[in-house]
Amino acid sequence: MAEILDGKSFSNKILDEIKDRCEREGLKPGLAVILVGDDPASAVYVKMKEKACNKLGFLSKKFKLPADTKEEELINLISDLNNDNEIDGILLQLPLPSHLDSKKMLELISPEKDVDGFHPVNAGKLFTGQKAFIPCTPRGIIELLKEYKIKMEGKNAVVLGRSNIVGKPMALLLLNENATVTICHSRTKNIAEIARSADILIAAIGKPYFVSGDFIKEGAVVVDVGVNRVDSPEEGEKLFDKNSEKLKKIEEKGYVLAGDVNFEQAKEKASFITPVPGGVGPLTIAMLMKNTLESHLRRRG
Ligand code: GUN
Repeated sequence: MAEILDGKSFSNKILDEIKDRCEREGLKPGLAVILVGDDPASAVYVKMKEKACNKLGFLSKKFKLPADTKEEELINLISDLNNDNEIDGILLQLPLPSHLDSKKMLELISPEKDVDGFHPVNAGKLFTGQKAFIPCTPRGIIELLKEYKIKMEGKNAVVLGRSNIVGKPMALLLLNENATVTICHSRTKNIAEIARSADILIAAIGKPYFVSGDFIKEGAVVVDVGVNRVDSPEEGEKLFDKNSEKLKKIEEKGYVLAGDVNFEQAKEKASFITPVPGGVGPLTIAMLMKNTLESHLRRRG
């Protein structure tokens, strides 16, 4: 039976350290969060980021713009925040409404304030192994593996998913740790077979319970990045066991969150595994706060 990689308590430890340091040294890092439109999941994430700022005593500026915001207004806001000396980090919550070009908007954020690590300058620095802001979720995963003293050097790491936010930076970070890295995606053939070669398996595909026990080598380390909302009882019955708590939750709340990994099956084979919720999710916020503090320290000189 796998040991749980407890992302939640590790994140709390990181947040406590950041808070102590800011209190001790009288630091007040500033984070601006821009939310455009009414995506309900984005609204929840933005609220969590704001709450974390308040808890740590960071300055938090939130900009909630309507779904029909004009490109020019967003450009002006980003430009103001680039020039705002109180602000160390600018986060543009994705996805944007379809009339706005997210690549173009992300490029307008000053790379020195790009605490999400999505600007091409930071992505390029990560690519070439230079110091950069690293996207929060993959950075959190590397720190979690280190916290549990999980060796990456020489291990076979398989990343399921190739997004700019998680899959690609995750693969680069594992490579920097001297793992042998394979990336799988929607067009990959024999995905289960490749996954079974992994000593470290990172699932970031966005499909509930896609990774069954059959994908997992005995003793593998399994990290589940998926946060998938399952709201129909019919889909739930296909995915989950008859007696699963998850089915009850759909009945009670109208939905349940499920990872990319079938946890019940995977935990029987893995040596370590992250739960959903309480695994990777909290780490993303903790790393955002860490990136913002680091930006503040760098900018103050
Ligand atoms: N949308 C989903 N994940 C993220 C994230 O980490 N940062 C931003 N800005 N948007 C997201």
